[in-house]
Parts: sequence; structure tokens; C-alpha cells
Amino acid sequence: MKRIGILTAGGDTPALNATIHGAVQRANQRKVEVIGLMRGFNCLFDSRVPHVHLNPLFSEIPELDPTKGGTLLGASRDYVDAQDTNCLDQTIDRLRRLKIEGVICIGGDGTLNGMQPLCERIPMVLASKTIDNDLGLNFPNEVDSWLRDPLDEPPGYKYRRGHKLAECDLQQMVNYVTPGFATAVFVSAGGVERIRTTAESHRRIAIVEVMGRHTGYIALGAAYGQPDLILVPESPVNVDLLVDRVKEIYDLQQNVVIVCGEGVVDASGRELGAAQRSTDPAGNLQLSGASEQLRALLIKAIGDDYFRTYRRIETAKEAIFTRKIGHTQRGGRPVLFDRFYAAQLGGKAVDMLLEGQNNFVSVLQWSHDRGFYVDSFNGQRLRDRWGHIHARHMHPSFYDPQNMVPSKVGIEYLLPIFTNAVGHDDMENLRQTLFDSGNLFRSYHSVNTDMNRRIQYLDP
Ligand code: F6P
Repeated sequence: MKRIGILTAGGDTPALNATIHGAVQRANQRKVEVIGLMRGFNCLFDSRVPHVHLNPLFSEIPELDPTKGGTLLGASRDYVDAQDTNCLDQTIDRLRRLKIEGVICIGGDGTLNGMQPLCERIPMVLASKTIDNDLGLNFPNEVDSWLRDPLDEPPGYKYRRGHKLAECDLQQMVNYVTPGFATAVFVSAGGVERIRTTAESHRRIAIVEVMGRHTGYIALGAAYGQPDLILVPESPVNVDLLVDRVKEIYDLQQNVVIVCGEGVVDASGRELGAAQRSTDPAGNLQLSGASEQLRALLIKAIGDDYFRTYRRIETAKEAIFTRKIGHTQRGGRPVLFDRFYAAQLGGKAVDMLLEGQNNFVSVLQWSHDRGFYVDSFNGQRLRDRWGHIHARHMHPSFYDPQNMVPSKVGIEYLLPIFTNAVGHDDMENLRQTLFDSGNLFRSYHSVNTDMNRRIQYLDP
């Protein structure tokens, strides 16, 4: 292959530029041209296919900064409709006219689904990313545990596990961790730590909501901020137990910090927050409001009288507040762990294309002996027998539902990722750049402005 395309699809993560950078560096070594396709699959619907040559003369363009969050290529949640053969034909024709012989998609489960119909016509590989850490498997044949039943109101199916999950051997996990997750946890744990002192001073109960959709990995990682209780979507909220624990902790220290994943569910398995179907072909739901629902539950269950016994707090409403870490956990400079491994996964994706792999995923594995290392995994083996890709749920053994904290296995899982996740340069960068006096009079210069000047178009 002489020329490949690269695109970033789905929600952004802080490590996308690092993955692109790793891919471009490897392509430079192997004398392959890299064409950046703008705004994910969206650009393929445009007959002019806005694109940027990322490595003219086999050296990367200066806008490609691996320490910067977001993606210089832009991202979108648009995907090619597998049933629309006309659109598929046009898409392939456009890639051919650009002389692109293979494509690296940087994305998660939605992207892997989205690239499927295209893989049959042009080689494509996925370099994984997602702050949710939900692209992968707890053990290699996990997909075989899925069963499905028709929905009460057809068409469609609901999926369930056929049997109890096997024990989790961390060394057997497929894609131990995805780029973006470590930075999201870094921001979330920092937020939790900061909320604590204000909750402590004002004798309040803070509920901090973190992202992650139906997976509790970010919530689990937020344990580094030392919350008192963590609620994860994989374990339905036991309201009575929660209320007892909250009162017990409040009695002792007159403040409580609770972390909740945005996808937490009640005893019947229904999301506490509102759930809306997104345009993502993975069928992902957009979730909002779990922490507000939890707050309402606690206000009702604990009541005003309880707080009146503590000086200065009059009502439960006054005592219990919520904060979302929100999109700050998805933005900004990636921490060292994400930068380093994202770049390796990008480089690996180039090697995979050049070795002739198609519909494979570059994954990050971990073992006691080797630490982290990159590998490739067949994308088909992430699909169940009906071809459906399931978001990886946190293995139940990572969480202690009685005490609402990470279990021993959960702690063992987190340690290799986070022990050296933050680099000296991350801290030094903060020290040097945040209070740079120039920030006060220089307006922000967006990379989009520079990239717009570089965008080229196909003749229609
Ligand atoms: O999948 C990444 C993610 O950040 C989820 O954690 C979150 O639910 C969702 O994307 C938010 O999507 P959007 O930015 O489109 O609101």
C-alpha cells in the first residue's frame, strides 16, 4: 500500500491526536502516504470528500500535536447505512479516486459496526479509543455467552447473558484498556477530590455523576478521588442499602461523597436517568440525569428531620447536591498513559493494514510479565453469533456491591493503568501553561482554522 486514509469517528477522546500521530509516524517510516478524512465517515457522504494530506514528504504536518486533546480531523457520529448499496458504491468510488488503498478508523463499538459494510470492499482496521473503556472482552469467548429474545413489541431483540460469567483473569482480557479512559479517570478523580473539601466544610452530601454509558469503569476509576460510595450501572441501586450507608457515613463525618455512573439502573434494570436512542449504529443510548434522580431518591428517603439534628442544615434539599463531571472528562491534554499507548495502537494499525489484515482491531493487552503490549484482534470475534457487538460491561468481580467500592480484583485491574499514568511533563505543562499571562490577552487559536487552510477536495 502506498496511500491510506485515516478518520476519527464517534465521540472524541483526549488521545485521538496521539493515535493519529503514532499512525503517521509509522507510515513515515514505511513510506506510506496518510490522508486524513475530515469529520469521520461524514466526509464520505460528500462528493468532494474534504481531506488533508497528513504527511507530505513523509513528515507530519505541524498541526498534528499528540499532546492536544480532541482530533484535528474532526469527529462525527455519522455512519454508512449497510443497506444503502448506492451510498456504499459511491463511498468506495470516492476512496478509490483518492487512491486510498486501506483505511484506519479510530473509534469504538459504533465505529466497528459502521465500518463493517465497507470492509467487504476495501481493507479497514480499527484503532480503538473510548473513554468508556467498553470496547473489548472480559475473556476471549465472552460473546458466546449472549442469548437473545424477540422484543415484546417487534421488530428487534433484547439480549441477555445465558450463564454466569467466567472468573476474570486480567491477563486474558481482550483490549485491557482503551485510550482516553485514563484521562477521563484523571479528570473525574480530580473532580471528586475537589468536591470533598466543599462537602466537608458545608456538611453536605455530594453526588458526582461521571460518564461511561452502561459501563462503570470510569466510576470505578474515580475511586482514586476517595469517594465514600460508588454506584455502577452493572449493579442495580439498592436504595435501602444506599440510604443506610449514607446515614452511617454522615453520622460519622457529616459529609458524604457518592460517585455514580450515568447509566446506573434500578432494581428492575431501568436507567435512573433519561435514556434516548442516539444515531449510533451500535444502538447506544444517550443518558442524562441519573444523579438528579438519585438525589430525589435520597431526599425522599432521608427526609428533612434527619438533617435538622445537625446544626445549620435545614432541609434534605439543601444538604444533598449533584455535579456532573461532564464533557471535561473527554477533553483536554491526554495524560502520559493515554498518549503513549494511543500512539502505539495507531502505529500497530498501520502495520496491520500493510500486513493485509482487514476488519481487525489494534488492541492493548496486559500481562504480569510483559506489562502492556499491542496486538491485533479479529473484529468478527467481538461479535456475537448474530453479528451484534455488545459494549463490554465491567466484570462483576471488579465491584463490591455491599460496600459500594472497588473489590480486590477491581483494584488489581486499576493498578497497572494508573500507577504511572501521569507524566512529569503533564504536571509541568500545567504549571507553565495555565497561568501564562499571554492567555489573558491572546484569544484562543483553534486548530480548525489551520486545518481549514489545508483541506483539499476531490473534483466532483
Ligand atoms: O461514549 C462516550 C461518551 O462520552 C459517553 O460516556 C457519553 O454517554 C456520551 O459519549 C455522550 O455523548 P455526547 O457527547 O454526544 O453527548
